[in-house]
Amino acid sequence: MDLDAAVRAADALAAARRVSALTGAGVSAESGVPTFRGPGGLWEGRRPEELASPVAFAADPELVWRFYDWRRTRLAGARPNAAHRALARLEQLVPSFELVTQNVDGLHAEAGSRRVVELHGNIWRVRCPRGCVDEIDRTAPLPPPLPPRCPRCRGPLRPGVVWFGEALPPGAFEAARRAAESAEVFLVVGTSGVVEPAASLARLAAGRGALVVEINPDVTALTDVAAISLRAGAGEALSAIVDRVEEARR
Ligand code: OAD
Repeated sequence: MDLDAAVRAADALAAARRVSALTGAGVSAESGVPTFRGPGGLWEGRRPEELASPVAFAADPELVWRFYDWRRTRLAGARPNAAHRALARLEQLVPSFELVTQNVDGLHAEAGSRRVVELHGNIWRVRCPRGCVDEIDRTAPLPPPLPPRCPRCRGPLRPGVVWFGEALPPGAFEAARRAAESAEVFLVVGTSGVVEPAASLARLAAGRGALVVEINPDVTALTDVAAISLRAGAGEALSAIVDRVEEARR
């Protein structure tokens, strides 16, 4: 990790009043959750776009549920890691902090983050597309047969996540846009930056004059927007940065 860049990022965070962060699957990688576009991300050789869509669900709800059951099972044993914990600590250190996540695993909240916008929903939610049922169910794997059925209308229930081609949860993008527009420092952590509209938030923040800090072991579609790029794992980089912010704010 470039220590000089980490120090610059920490100093900017320590001086900022308003900080926002956009996170992606890389933040949960160190909790043992495979990223979507990294090794182990394909399920039975299929890309997420082939499974996470209303068209795929209409064609084969059982197949789509088997994919989500697989992810739910991987997540059932996952615990927040150093990156989640550092972001939760940062929230306590900065006067105003907003966390926007593309992750559906709920690990930010479990680590103690309070202000979290879940842009893509939550994998533990199970809901009826007709609106009869909307509940949190942490059972993994779900008991067969799949798909689970709505107790009222008997139609197939679906995971409470956002699929490709669907609108984001009501209010979520507005809250995320406000977070991007108002940030003095905008962290982009563990996302490939290829899925919209989430990725546009980093560009929006940069366009409004925020210092964009990227933390990712690889170059991404958002690297060109970042004023500071840290090529490191999220746990190591965020722990070091937030330790320094903590010292500065003492
Ligand atoms: P991706 O799988 O596209 O990208 C994960 C990123 O995490 C990559 O850029 C990796 O380099 C990086 N990464 C891996 N290990 C890391 C670590 N230890 N620390 C930091 N970064 C690390 O996942 P997302 O960008 O989150 O959407 O994908 C965006 C959306 O596409 C997801 O929310 C999901 C998916 O299809 C929906 O399901 C709607």
